[in-house]
Amino acid sequence: MAAPVIIAPSILASDFSRLGEEARAVEAAGADWLHVDVMDGHFVPNITIGPDVVKALKPHVKIPFDCHLMISPADPYLEAFRAAGADVISVHPEAGPHLNRTLRRIRELGARAGVVFNPSTDPACIEWMMDDVDLVLVMSVNPGFGGQSFLHSQLKKVERLRQMIDACGRDIILEVDGGVTPETAPLCLSAGATALVAGSAVFKGGPDRYADNIRALRGG
Ligand code: DX5
Ligand code: ZN
Repeated sequence: MAAPVIIAPSILASDFSRLGEEARAVEAAGADWLHVDVMDGHFVPNITIGPDVVKALKPHVKIPFDCHLMISPADPYLEAFRAAGADVISVHPEAGPHLNRTLRRIRELGARAGVVFNPSTDPACIEWMMDDVDLVLVMSVNPGFGGQSFLHSQLKKVERLRQMIDACGRDIILEVDGGVTPETAPLCLSAGATALVAGSAVFKGGPDRYADNIRALRGG
């Protein structure tokens, strides 16, 4: 039997004035990971949170922290995010000149290393280093904001990455991020995704709805 899908709520869509409570609420509602969207106002046109917030949130939950770095450069901050409690650290290839060195550094620090593909990014850039990747993340929106519509064009990229992962024989996690809803989640899973990030679809309706919202993403 296939492993159950990993659901990673993005705290970008939570109530920032009650972050600790929100993290605890999605964990109690069945979330597998906590997705943390880190934005610098330079690599993407929005500014969110840094390592100090990750550190403050960490003691609130036991589930792994999935840190999505939308910052450039990323290398100078890897150590701080790892020290703050990041379990997975994902970077965009466009964020620095030496993706392989960055991935190796993330692993050296003891975290799992992820690569994120913007809608325009070719997945071929990891073809020659599949052994150095623990997770790949397909953006199904342009990074920077929550609440955008799912780009169906990216499903083919998920399929392509599924083939690349199967061919290499390693159990690399294939995650999709952006516009994931109960309607688009099954499309991602059919294309081969094993992890889904969802902001709006998890946090809509407030804490009483989180368990139902997460269940709906798993297919009810
Ligand atoms: C976008 C972020 C996503 C975003 C998802 O830059 O990487 O994680 O918060 O939000 P929704 O699910 O609302 O599209
Ligand atoms: Zn994200």
